[in-house]
Amino acid sequence: MKVFVAGATGAIGKQLVPRLVAAGHEVHGMTRSASKRAMLEAAGAVPVVADALDADQVAEAVARARPNVIVHQLTAIPAELDMRNLDREFALTNRLRTEGTDHLLSAGQAVGVRRFVAQSNIAVYARTGGAVKSEDDALDQSPAREMRRGLEAIRHLEDAVLGARWTEGIVLRYGWFYGPGTSMAPGQESYELVRRRKFPLVGDGGGVWSFIHVDDAAEATVAAVEHGGRGIYNVVDDDPAAVAEWLPALAVQLGAKKPMRVPRFIGRLFAGEWGAVMMTQIRGASNAKAKRELAWRPGHPSWRQGILVA
Ligand SMILES: NC(=O)c1ccc[n+]([C@@H]2O[C@H](COP(=O)([O-])OP(=O)(O)OC[C@H]3O[C@@H](n4cnc5c(N)ncnc54)[C@H](OP(=O)(O)O)[C@@H]3O)[C@@H](O)[C@H]2O)c1
Repeated sequence: MKVFVAGATGAIGKQLVPRLVAAGHEVHGMTRSASKRAMLEAAGAVPVVADALDADQVAEAVARARPNVIVHQLTAIPAELDMRNLDREFALTNRLRTEGTDHLLSAGQAVGVRRFVAQSNIAVYARTGGAVKSEDDALDQSPAREMRRGLEAIRHLEDAVLGARWTEGIVLRYGWFYGPGTSMAPGQESYELVRRRKFPLVGDGGGVWSFIHVDDAAEATVAAVEHGGRGIYNVVDDDPAAVAEWLPALAVQLGAKKPMRVPRFIGRLFAGEWGAVMMTQIRGASNAKAKRELAWRPGHPSWRQGILVA
């Protein structure tokens, strides 16, 4: 098949493109920078230089490639996040998830793409009820102020993709990435904060995280491209865990001192309300549907084995 990957050079795109090529697909990889052409060619893709926020450029790029499938992996998340100003930090990502989605969808409709696979996130789920959410569980209706616009943008993306009845619209709600090219990797921001004892355990550490190694996220995406049916799939590992469990375990693995404990109001002061939510209230997700319907299994079933060798 011909697959058009928007976001071909990002954390997930870098893992996805070579896998699609190895599976025999003709991949057209989009970037804003002409300087990344060589990198895409080396991965076996046809480079496409276009700005996702420019409707005409996207329409022209997609029309030229005439893909069977479009994969939307566009984000622009800064390497170091100011958790108290997430509206600012996510402003561009929010535009990519709203305008960028709309541009790709109309370009895809014009050439009649068979599938449209887009990146979403398990952060959408309600912070009440069970600790581990399935795809049809309720969404967060009162997000923390700092993430309100971010979650609105994700909802826009999901609604637009699932509402596109002319194609198989597929939404992949990825868990929290770790592995190469992510902030959860040796030498990268989150690991270094844990190593330097600057990633405290906030409140009861009751927030439940579902991680996913980027290799496994890419494998699930290939499965969705090849045989996914319209709908939402959580793409997470088998082992959701509370921060109070994984954070001290990661500190041990990294040879760091035990994380400091701080009350929720102190965590909120330093990391904003969303930071406090992530540490105390966020929910995990179940991968049962993706396993069943995409015939996919995570190669790293638990962060316990994978997180250090990432
Ligand atoms: N579920 C999760 O935990 C999750 C999800 C997403 C990201 N993250 C994290 O966030 C950090 C940053 O990752 P990232 O993937 O956002 O980084 P990134 O390296 O900035 O990748 C974003 C992709 O979007 C493309 N892009 C952005 N704006 C574009 C535009 N206007 N037009 C065309 N293409 C555009 C980029 O292409 P060019 O730059 O080549 O133009 C790149 O391919 C990483 O640590 C990652 O792990 C985590």
